[in-house]
Amino acid sequence: MPVIEEIAKVSFERVGFHSHIKGLGLDENGKAKFIADGMVGQTKAREAAGIAVKLIKKGKLAGKGILLVGPTGSGKTAIAMGIAKELGEDVPFVQISGSEIYSAEIKKTEFLKQALRRAIGVRISEERRVYEGLVEKVDIKMTRHPFNPYAEIPESAVITLKTKEETKTLRADRNIAYQLLELGIREGDVIQIDADSGRISRIGVAKGEEDLFTYRKVEIPSGRVLKVKEFTYTVSLHDLDLVNARAGGIFGLLFGGGLEITDEVRERVDETVKQWVEEGKAVLVPGVLFIDECHMLDIEAFSFLARAMESELAPILILATNRGKTRIRGTDLESPHGIPIDMLDRLLIINTSPYNKEEIREIVKIRAKEEGIEISEEAIEYLAELGEKTSLRYAVQLLAPASIIASGKVEKEHIEKAKELFADVRRSIEYVEKLEGMLQ
Ligand SMILES: Nc1ncnc2c1ncn2[C@@H]1O[C@H](COP(=O)(O)OP(=O)(O)O)[C@@H](O)[C@H]1O
Ligand SMILES: [Mg+2]
Repeated sequence: MPVIEEIAKVSFERVGFHSHIKGLGLDENGKAKFIADGMVGQTKAREAAGIAVKLIKKGKLAGKGILLVGPTGSGKTAIAMGIAKELGEDVPFVQISGSEIYSAEIKKTEFLKQALRRAIGVRISEERRVYEGLVEKVDIKMTRHPFNPYAEIPESAVITLKTKEETKTLRADRNIAYQLLELGIREGDVIQIDADSGRISRIGVAKGEEDLFTYRKVEIPSGRVLKVKEFTYTVSLHDLDLVNARAGGIFGLLFGGGLEITDEVRERVDETVKQWVEEGKAVLVPGVLFIDECHMLDIEAFSFLARAMESELAPILILATNRGKTRIRGTDLESPHGIPIDMLDRLLIINTSPYNKEEIREIVKIRAKEEGIEISEEAIEYLAELGEKTSLRYAVQLLAPASIIASGKVEKEHIEKAKELFADVRRSIEYVEKLEGMLQ
């Protein structure tokens, strides 16, 4: 029986499923508002999560983690995501399922290592010299292709950039001429050219220019054409590992797939990042590693994670399960939630409870809006009732097929039709069991 549930969940879970969650929806005293930040109800769990966020920010949760326990569709993933959002705009949120560690291609610990490193961000700030301005004139000089007499290729370019204070004409090489062609840069565009790499980016189209495309309208930049600007972006340690592994060998590039991240690569990346931090060029942004269905992890995975949590570069670990007392995988021991005691000792446990009809109604409304689905009051009411009888998850999932059936505003009849076509987990299990009964 659990197998069907497992499959149903994995195939339905999508990140977009939680796109409406913008935070935990707490007021300045840490009290949960009934509806805020895309969150509805589940107030106790949200307030507990809010306290966990405060502990994390004070560094008091280092080496520890959070365990969310509650039935399917009670908002465990939503709350984990809310925690990450509360920690900051560019804080990484990495979601895996306990069952994903068992793969033929990659070792369990390697999979976990990569997940942990994807959950640690490095915010890099860089000062770069750029040419920036409105393109007043652009002239691309073409020449014959060296091998193909019928083709022409760009040779060089002359470009005039204008700011509010200055106008400057630049003579540019083939690389830049190529990019100007490729990006389709025209007079009236506002662009940036990196002075060192020559990389061009279009910032938008100057206000007041007619434009056929939907580029962003921007002001003409002020100041000098050549200026120093600060750029900030966040990448993960795993991104940096990948770049370094690639730089390490051409074979990975040629044959694909075989890209191997070794511990040496990771150590090299760590060293470099530490140096950047010391030089004030980068800031570490520990994020959240969320492991759903954590009862699927085995004893080896748990001890690996326990060790990882001790290290100085660790993300916040949030585990979730809907199991009570169960066997720890890889052993004959029973334990609460299938988690070894030494791991349990490190976890703050937050319970989530099933939703009532009011809560389901509001969540369905939010999801319909998020997915751009127009729906009648009657249909929402029907979904709320249905959700209470089956699960919130099922009610939310019926929205998309119902909107296909309706091809317009969703009414109660469209939900009924969708419900007929798509089973909820319980009905699906009953169906299989009935068939088995008939065969015996
Ligand atoms: N309190 C809540 N407020 C708003 N949306 C929620 C809330 N709880 C759950 N949801 C949404 O309902 C759906 C199912 O919840 P989910 O977080 O996947 O439950 P679980 O992880 O416990 O199985 C998701 O789309 C989720 O974002
Ligand atoms: Mg979930």
